[in-house]
Amino acid sequence: MRVEFLAAMRRVANSVTVVTTDGPGGRQGATVSSFCSVSADPPTLLVCLNCDSRVHDAVHSNGTFCVNVLPRGLEELSHRFAGFLDEEEPDRFSNVALKPDLEGPSIIANATAFVCKTEQAVRSGSHTVFIGHVVDIHRGVDEPLIYLDGKYREIAPLEK
Ligand SMILES: Cc1cc2nc3c(=O)[nH]c(=O)nc-3n(C[C@H](O)[C@H](O)[C@H](O)COP(=O)(O)O)c2cc1C
Repeated sequence: MRVEFLAAMRRVANSVTVVTTDGPGGRQGATVSSFCSVSADPPTLLVCLNCDSRVHDAVHSNGTFCVNVLPRGLEELSHRFAGFLDEEEPDRFSNVALKPDLEGPSIIANATAFVCKTEQAVRSGSHTVFIGHVVDIHRGVDEPLIYLDGKYREIAPLEK
């Protein structure tokens, strides 16, 4: 069933986000595609983080995180925050364009960003579902980067 599950999930398209966090538990960031809206009243969203990841533990202790929905063209950033460049560049935030002069979790320039306070953390299998109350929003203009079947993609409108 696990193999079938993973194969079927490759058929599901997701926006690519970078979840960042900062505070007493440290600054961390990781690429995350398990993101969705939960409720508009009050504004609430969720992300699922692997319990073995550093970002998981940091979000847990900091009680705050930001979901940065990457615009198209930033697949290199997704690659970086998934850890593929960690050996050559251990600081994932190095040379990343961030919105300046803001307190709290880092906000990536040009991303659509949702700053959250953790409302609930629910363990399920290998992951924890972090449900966040949205306290600040930065709206980007570019269309989002999409991940489907192991590849990055851009959205193309249907011609009528
Ligand atoms: C496209 C893509 C989507 C990912 N989505 C998730 C996700 O939803 N949840 C998760 O825990 N890890 C996800 N990952 C894996 C993390 O980005 C990766 O494990 C990360 O390096 C964790 O870093 P850390 O241990 O330093 O916190 C994804 C990776 C990629 C490339």
